[in-house]
This record gives sequence, structure tokens and C-alpha cells, in this order.
Amino acid sequence: AETVPFAHALPLPKTLTPLTRGATTDVYEMRMREADVEIVKGLTSRVRTFDGTFPGPTIKACQGRAVEVRQYNDLTVNAAVHLHGGEVHSEHDGLPMDVIAPGGNRTYHYPNKQRAASLWYHDHAHHLEAENVYKGLHGLYLISDAEEKKLPLPRGAYDVPLVIRDARVETDGTLRYTRPSDCPHMLVNGKERPYFKVAARKYRLRLYNACANRYIRLRLADGTPFTQIASDGGLLERPVQRDELLMLGGERVEVVVDFSRYSVGQSVVLENTGALPTERPEVLRFDIDRRSTDNSEVPARLSTLPPVPRGTVERDFELRTFPAMTINGVSYDPDRVDVATTVGSSEIWTIRNVEAPLPAPPDFHLYHSFHTHLTYFRVLERNGQPAGVRDSGLKDTVCLGPGETVKIAMTWGPYTGQYLYHCHQLGHSSGGQMGRIDVNPA
Ligand code: C2O
Repeated sequence: AETVPFAHALPLPKTLTPLTRGATTDVYEMRMREADVEIVKGLTSRVRTFDGTFPGPTIKACQGRAVEVRQYNDLTVNAAVHLHGGEVHSEHDGLPMDVIAPGGNRTYHYPNKQRAASLWYHDHAHHLEAENVYKGLHGLYLISDAEEKKLPLPRGAYDVPLVIRDARVETDGTLRYTRPSDCPHMLVNGKERPYFKVAARKYRLRLYNACANRYIRLRLADGTPFTQIASDGGLLERPVQRDELLMLGGERVEVVVDFSRYSVGQSVVLENTGALPTERPEVLRFDIDRRSTDNSEVPARLSTLPPVPRGTVERDFELRTFPAMTINGVSYDPDRVDVATTVGSSEIWTIRNVEAPLPAPPDFHLYHSFHTHLTYFRVLERNGQPAGVRDSGLKDTVCLGPGETVKIAMTWGPYTGQYLYHCHQLGHSSGGQMGRIDVNPA
């Protein structure tokens, strides 16, 4: 459907209220079900949701307090709920074969022993995750901690998640799952190219690339830089200035933007310079509509990261899309252990994207987004050079352009059992670009 940009106000996903708050655990319940929503102005789209909203409701957790979520599957397809970025026991990880059948339910337990970070939960049912996530099965899960709460960063109404994803909405409203070069609609928090009325002050923006199959490259149209404060695994040690943010599916980048540099009545557009020439680059328009006091600050020192793991075990991985979706020549087989390791093992993984660059876009399917469950990693090198700012901090998903190689370091743990690593271009993981890692007791 042809659309006019900036027809919707930016919605904010609602925060889910716990059913009960116990001494140690907050208990939630959600129903996965179909719902009719307005994505493109004037059209009704049938989507798959967590609890009726698109995207699903946000869970706010804090370090040291566990969360339990009972998920009812009222859909007509299997679903498995994975907490992306969550350090959770294997049986609560939402593994591809560990599904909730239609009509069933299951309770997932999340310990939340980890540091503050912007996580998300989404479907992971084997072969179905790309379409399920695309059709709406994803929501946010934000963990806070005492260290982060002490910082004078923008908070409350000035701490805003922006879940960005593409879509194809037909003229009858159908949300159709198809290749990214046929997905011209860019959505933020479930609405096509919205506007957001902001005060002339600092905002913390939690950016998510929730696209099933494409990268986005974000910049502010007037060139105003972003101050990046966090990545997948939470706060960086120090803020860094970024002009442009290349994000693959699954990646999170948190930035602070100071709108006090604009006067009331001005606007600035967040655009995707990774859009195809046939697509509109606009993603979201910020309309500066009021003055405001602002006591927030971005401190020069944000956090202390755990030391970079000193890997003793080295492993190599090669990702290919042609002739089949493989890692090291094989597609996912839930009964085959691709990597056996022990809890506490510090490792260096070299990951290669062996696709050759194309002379022109659309090249989305030649990118890979390498993701590990259970543990965060540090990026050591990209193409033989020390990792730069775009790879800083604790990561769980790393971008690999055609022909690129990255070296990452991680320590496996804190739990044992069966986990996964895979490409987070979900068409690739659905097609089998995924491996099984068993973390065995020491
Ligand atoms: Cu966000 Cu295994 O995925």
C-alpha cells in the first residue's frame, strides 16, 4: 500500500503488570493470540501477538529479582519463547524443538542475575521463527540494576524504546511475510513511520533492529551525532559519538540525543541510509514541541565491564547462504552436537561470512548477524583490525557484511545444558543456519 509518512503518533509499548509479586519473583501471564491492528493508516492487519499488542507488552525486570512468565499459545501454530540476551537455564531458553503446541501453555523462569540491559523476547519455533517474529511475536524485556539507576541518565518519559522493523502491508491490510526487498514499510513500535513529539531536552533512545531479514543504517537527517551509551549487553564503559548506526537483526544500540539544540517548532528525521533506492529513507520524525528543564547528564564514565575473556579454546565458523543455509557446511540438526564445551570455558571464535559482495543492493541476504545464546561476548577483531566503536561493549549479536571476518571472545556459563548459536537474519536461522552448543558441567 502507498502511504503518507508521519501519519501516526509514536506509540509506546505498554508495560505488563505482574499477576503477583512474591518475595523473590514477579509472576506474569501472557496469551499468544491473533489480533487486528492498524499498522498503516486506515488499514486493518491481522497479526500474531503476545497478549494482543503489536509489538508485545514490555516486561520491566530488575537484577536480583526473578521473573516467571506463563505463556498460553492461543495461536494455530507452534511457538517457543526465547529471551534474547537472557542468561537462563536451558529448559527455559525456548529452544527450537521445545515448543508450546497450539492450545498449550508453559512457564518460563528468568533468574535476572545479569546486569542491566535491553533484551527482547521472541518466538524461536524451528522453521517458524522468521514468520512468527515478522507477524508480531516479539516484545521488550528491560533489566535495570543499582549501578545504572545511580546514573543521571534521562529516565521515565525520556527513556524511550524504538523497535524498528520493515513490513509489507498489502492494500487490503494483509501483513505479508516476504523478502526484505519487497518490504517497503518501516515501522517503529508497530506503526508505519510515525512522528514523536519531544521536549527540547535529552532523551535516551533504546534502538532495536527487529527486522526479520534486513540491516538498517540509522542517522539523523541533519547529521547530528548520537551519543551511544549502551549496546546489546548494557552500558558501555564510556559514551562514544556515532554519526551512523549500522544494525543487523537482533542488535540493540542505546543512544542519548539532546533535542535542546533545536528550537520549538523544528523537526528532525531519523532516516535509514540502508534503505533501497526505491524506498523512502524516513523512519521516524522527532517534532520538538516544547521546552523543558533537564537535569539529566551523560557521565564520562558509565560503567565497568567485566574483563575481556582470555580464550584458550579456539573455534572457527563459516556462514554460507548458497547453496544452503549452513554453518561449517551443515544445517541445524537438533540431535547433533556441533560444539561441546564446559561451563567456565573461555573461547575465541572466528566467524567468517563467505558470501561475495554484490555490486549493488538489494544485498540484505548476503549479511549475517551472528548470535549466541546464554552468554555475551566481546568483539576482538573485525577483518584483522582491532574492533572499533561499532563493536564496543558486551555483545550477543554481531554484524558480518559479505566477506567479513570477526573474532569474538566469551566465557561459557553461568548455566549448563543445550544452547544455540545462529544467524539472526531469521530467514537464515529458519532455513537451518544455526548450531547446537552443549555446555557441560566442569
Ligand atoms: Cu533473538 Cu536465538 O535469538
